[in-house]
Amino acid sequence: MCGIIGINSNKSVSASIINSLKKLEYRGYDSAGIATLSSGQINEVKSEGRVDNLEKNSLVQNMEGTIGIGHVRWATHGSPNSLNAHPHSSQNVSVVHNGIIENSTLLKKFLVGKGHKFKSQTDTEVIVHLITEHLKTDDIVNSIKKTLKSLHGSFALGIIFKDQPDLIVGARRGSPLAVGYGPNENYLGSDSYALKSMTNKITYLNDGEFCVIKKDHVEFFSDDGVKINKKVLELSSQEEEYDKGDYKHFMAKEIEEQPLTLKNGIKEYIDNSNNDINIYNFPWKISEISSITLIGCGTAYHSCLMAKYWFEELTSLDVNVDIASEFRYRKNRFKRDSLYIFVSQSGETADTYAALDICKKNGMKTCAVVNVIESSIARDSEFVLPIHCGTEIGVASTKAFLGQILILYILSLKLALLRKDLKKDVFTQKLNDLKKLPKLVDQTLSIDNKIQTISNTFNEAKGSMFLGRGFSYPIALEGALKLKELSYIHAEGYPAGEMKHGPLALIEEGMPVVVLAPRDNYYKKTISNMQEVIARGAKVLLVTNKSKDEIVSENIWETLEVETTNADLLPFLLTIPLQKLAYYSALKKGFDIDKPRNLAKSVTVE
Ligand code: F6R
Repeated sequence: MCGIIGINSNKSVSASIINSLKKLEYRGYDSAGIATLSSGQINEVKSEGRVDNLEKNSLVQNMEGTIGIGHVRWATHGSPNSLNAHPHSSQNVSVVHNGIIENSTLLKKFLVGKGHKFKSQTDTEVIVHLITEHLKTDDIVNSIKKTLKSLHGSFALGIIFKDQPDLIVGARRGSPLAVGYGPNENYLGSDSYALKSMTNKITYLNDGEFCVIKKDHVEFFSDDGVKINKKVLELSSQEEEYDKGDYKHFMAKEIEEQPLTLKNGIKEYIDNSNNDINIYNFPWKISEISSITLIGCGTAYHSCLMAKYWFEELTSLDVNVDIASEFRYRKNRFKRDSLYIFVSQSGETADTYAALDICKKNGMKTCAVVNVIESSIARDSEFVLPIHCGTEIGVASTKAFLGQILILYILSLKLALLRKDLKKDVFTQKLNDLKKLPKLVDQTLSIDNKIQTISNTFNEAKGSMFLGRGFSYPIALEGALKLKELSYIHAEGYPAGEMKHGPLALIEEGMPVVVLAPRDNYYKKTISNMQEVIARGAKVLLVTNKSKDEIVSENIWETLEVETTNADLLPFLLTIPLQKLAYYSALKKGFDIDKPRNLAKSVTVE
């Protein structure tokens, strides 16, 4: 989703801004732009599509200026073209914006009445004209303060001013924003990753705060314009190397990295010498928790749903799962004895953050399961369980999903042991099985060739279904999501037992249907549901695990067998062929696998 960069330096900034915008590309975007200040003029260049297009523009190559802002845009208001790309500028001010201004129509009406002329279809342009209007009577801090007060919605802003050769303003409400410190230069960025090539000294703005960035110092203000002091954090200075190596896409690399993701998670949390799970500094007594509420969006929501099955199977805890965008507006009954767990790869998802915020305001216990440990959700949760899968660049989540479900499984085991819901010997057996999981995932990764051929049928179909029961149901949802977001094929995830209550009507002759039927307690039931779709002409791809027992069924189109382990862990293995199916169908269709259309890596608007 949109990304912001700002640099105030004593040397030319355009190349560094372009470089930092490239670091923000992973978030998903459709246009890019840059504005610098030179000889008292704001110069603005924007282009549709990739940052590469912007970089190749001769105006950018010759762009002067020691202060500037840049942006990658993920369209919300107005189509993704160069006119709507940011920055947006008036004679005096240039603005980049992440988020959505909900009252932009009203504000625009007011500003047009005052004689302001609008060039784009964006909500952002009202900010430019509001600041310009206030600057007629107020200084910069007051103009910003007044502008921010009249905006409804969410924003992270970077602003430069024609008459201010040493000043960038940053402001935040809802969308994340960080300030970075360098030698004789300072920076603004929507995440620390974008700034990492320049600095590891970072300050995060809290909601409502704004800042004034000069070359040699930065001042911070609360929303009422009062100066405040903020901490400078020193992040790890190592810049991880992100290249695809021999892989065609980051997604392919990230799928193959999953055994390592699991090894890292297991190493972090499992104490081999004591056959135990270490979760250090857990801030609550076990007796204080009698229910769990898991909240997330998209793939992270599927992780939550997966965890519900484990928590219910292994513990006596009461478990609820919620989609963050639903949770945040419902009339929730907050429970003192509930632990609220927020699952997010990026740690910046606006809806998940809002749900966390509501829980905090209601005095609830909050725990984050995140990949990006410097993220807003991690910083603002009482307790954090990192998933340690390394940066995930492919916009469609793969290794982060396995990382999330691993941590949630580990947590369910530990709580089950502490609550005495699980006997120590059963716990030990489950830990031993878990330690073998990375190898089994590694072996399962080799079922490539067959999936490549199978993907042709999906690509030719009008639509497809993914069915599963019990532990396999969340994986069916995740498999369908991966296929639709990467290959743009209609894919519906469904509980297999629910088909006869309506969706069987969708089954047509030759329709590909993935049936997840591992040899667990649900196996026989799922196989019966499979017969129902086969009888109606579906081409069934059965995904099961290796077993001595023959599959007793006729007319199955194709079968894929993953490795074998205990029933709890089969979901990890079943995920692999579904990720590969989505990857190969998108590959054959020639789609942009690492940056699928209309999907952002960090969804910072609601
Ligand atoms: C799917 C995908 C999205 C994200 C969702 C939540 O492949 O990537 O559905 O899972 O936007 O993002 P995070 O986990 O960053 O909160």
